[in-house]
Amino acid sequence: FLVKAITPSVTRRHLSTTAIEQGKKAAAYRAVDEVVHSSLSVVGIGSGSTIRYAVDRIKDRQDLAHVTYIPTSFQSRMLIQDANLKLGNLEQHPAIDVTIDGADEVDSQLNCIKGGGACHLQEKIIASASKRFIIIADDRKKSDTLGVNWTKGVPIEVLPMAFSVIMLHLKTYFPSAAPKLRMATEKAGPVVTDNGNFILDVHFGPISSPSDLENKLIRIPGVIEVGLFCNLTDRAYFGSSDGSIHVAN
Ligand code: 5RP
Repeated sequence: FLVKAITPSVTRRHLSTTAIEQGKKAAAYRAVDEVVHSSLSVVGIGSGSTIRYAVDRIKDRQDLAHVTYIPTSFQSRMLIQDANLKLGNLEQHPAIDVTIDGADEVDSQLNCIKGGGACHLQEKIIASASKRFIIIADDRKKSDTLGVNWTKGVPIEVLPMAFSVIMLHLKTYFPSAAPKLRMATEKAGPVVTDNGNFILDVHFGPISSPSDLENKLIRIPGVIEVGLFCNLTDRAYFGSSDGSIHVAN
């Protein structure tokens, strides 16, 4: 009886995870096929779980062996190295042809919330250095308005010595924002980014003007970078579990 009672929900959960992964993979494969050409020389590689599929697709392409790849995080550097791709850095390559990256939520103007993996500082620098910035995501990430689908709040990278002051400012300016210091585990303490900083996750509700909010937040002393990417994305690929893709420009 117990086995019968448990099995259906386990199967459902397994299927839905598989469906999400299929959406990520479909988006990543299509984006690589359409935007990464042999005429390019420098490509930025984002961070997260969706970008793994893009690297998988890239590593099978013999015509891309000459391309240099610029990472956006420690994880991304490992992905590039493990795939035996040519690893580069911004000092050698301050101008990037195209960057592909994931996102936590993308609105109809292609503004994004990023930083679910605490990598948005380097991701935004790489995006700003790129001629084209391409987002890949499963279709759960698509949204009319930021702050609606992604319920974990906007990630803000902050200088560790300033985190409590910034939390106080945020509570004053945005009384319902409930800023939370992102913790690794209770025992391990706060998440420390690749840049040695902390992350605050802050709830603003539906964000009607992401660039106004970004501009306000970045002015708070000690804020290093805000996980709002405004007017940076050139194209987004959203993948569904049936393999269909929605492309938004
Ligand atoms: C990391 C990011 C990621 O790109 C974002 O969280 C999406 O990740 P995933 O592909 O795992 O959904 O911004 O800071």
